[in-house]
Amino acid sequence: MMLSVNQLSSGYGGARILEDVSLAVNTGEIVCLFGRNGAGKTTCLQTIMGLVRPLGGDVRVDGRMVSDWPAHQVPLSGIGYVPQGRRLFGELTVAENIEIGLMSDSKGNAGTRRAELLAMFPRLEERMKQRADTLSGGEQQMLAMARALAISPKVLLLDEPTEGLQPSMIARIRETLTALRDDGVAILLVEQRIDAVLSIADRVVFLDHGRSQPAISAAELNASPDLAKRYLGV
Ligand SMILES: Nc1ncnc2c1ncn2[C@@H]1O[C@H](COP(=O)(O)OP(=O)(O)O)[C@@H](O)[C@H]1O
Ligand SMILES: [Mg+2]
Repeated sequence: MMLSVNQLSSGYGGARILEDVSLAVNTGEIVCLFGRNGAGKTTCLQTIMGLVRPLGGDVRVDGRMVSDWPAHQVPLSGIGYVPQGRRLFGELTVAENIEIGLMSDSKGNAGTRRAELLAMFPRLEERMKQRADTLSGGEQQMLAMARALAISPKVLLLDEPTEGLQPSMIARIRETLTALRDDGVAILLVEQRIDAVLSIADRVVFLDHGRSQPAISAAELNASPDLAKRYLGV
């Protein structure tokens, strides 16, 4: 497994939020983590990235245990993170936001990688000199993805990338994620709305009150919609 999360627990101050969360993502696979608002999805991604300290369990990226690494080193294991709400530098240009991502690329091939990213997101190339906060929501999401992809990660985490976007833009993001998956990236995709991404998921993990259920295949979930109702109450 490219990403494996084993009985991970974490929380804030005295409050435990995640309890024994386990999941795994293979190379060339999209795993969706679903759960209601407040279920602990963002906390789970932040704990994987070392931004919230684990209270128990571990996280492995390509076999290396990263759960005791300082947060700023975790991306160097080959893991990219697109946070909820994008967290761009709004007053900087599109080009500058991409440069910030490229600076963390230790391999020293920023020129090639920049060209690859702009080929992946041609809309950004047209807007390189614009401030990030003047982009549409969908363009901002593309920029957040480009920044996370600058290090050519083996694992990509995305927190509700389709939130607030128009259907046409959601479709573009789905296409980008399937292309990355087919290129061998292991993708962990957090969503609250199951219908937005179920069609591209290989497996699905439900999170409820900080606890995970064993993964089920997307085919199985498609065949029995009652399962989603039971897990999500939708
Ligand atoms: N920085 C924080 N400090 C304290 N509690 C938090 C913090 N962030 C989230 N929480 C709490 O953790 C729980 C899970 O939140 P979160 O991981 O954001 O859920 P989700 O992403 O599934 O909506 C919620 O009860 C939330 O109030
Ligand atoms: Mg969240």
